[in-house]
Amino acid sequence: MNIRVATVPDLQKIQACNLLCLPENYQLKYYMYHALSWPLLSYVAEDNKGTIVGYVLAKMEEETEEEPHGHITSVAVKRTYRRLGLAQKLMDHTARAMVENYNARFVSLHVRVSNRAAFSLYKHTLKFDIYDTEKKYYADGEDAYAMKRCLVSFA
Ligand code: ACO
Repeated sequence: MNIRVATVPDLQKIQACNLLCLPENYQLKYYMYHALSWPLLSYVAEDNKGTIVGYVLAKMEEETEEEPHGHITSVAVKRTYRRLGLAQKLMDHTARAMVENYNARFVSLHVRVSNRAAFSLYKHTLKFDIYDTEKKYYADGEDAYAMKRCLVSFA
C-alpha cells in the first residue's frame, strides 16, 4: 500500500471512491478546486496495482480572522481496505503538509454524530476534540460534531 499526494488525473477515481463510501458527494469541479488551490494537501492510498482505495480531500480555511488552519473536506477508505491504518496515515500526511506548507496551527472537520467509525478515528486515534455540535448540518437533518486537532506537535 502506498500513500502519495493526489494529482489532477486522480480526481475522477477519488470521486468514484467518495460515491461508494459516503452520502456527501461533490461535483468534479469541487475536487478540481481543491487540487488546484492546495495541490499539496490531498492524498490518496493506492494498492500495488495503482488502484485508489482511499483518499483525503483537504484545504486551508481562508475566509477567517482565526490563526491559519486547515479543513478536512472528506476522507474515506474502501470497505475491504478498512482497519489497516490507512485513514490514520492519510490524515497524518495531510496534517504534516498543512503545517509545512501553510504553517497551520490546527485542522478542523465535521462528522455525523452517528458515524461511530469516523468519530472513533478522530477522537481516540488522532486526538481531535469536539468544539461544537451543529444542528441539522447534513442535508437529511442529522447533526454534526465540529471537531479540531491541534497541530503544534507537527511543527
Ligand atoms: N469502529 C471503531 N473504531 C474504528 C473503526 C470502526 N469501524 N474504524 C476505525 N476506527 C478507529 C480505531 O481506533 C482504529 O484503530 P484500530 O484499528 O487500531 O482499532 C483507528 O480508528 C484507525 O483506523 P484506520 O484503519 O486508520 O481507519 P480506516 O482506514 O478503516 O478508515 C474511515 C476509517 C475513513 C472512517 C472508514 O471507516 C470509512 O471510509 N468510512 C466511510 C466513510 C466515512 O465515514 N468517512 C468519514 C466521514 S467525515 C469526513 O469525511 C470529514
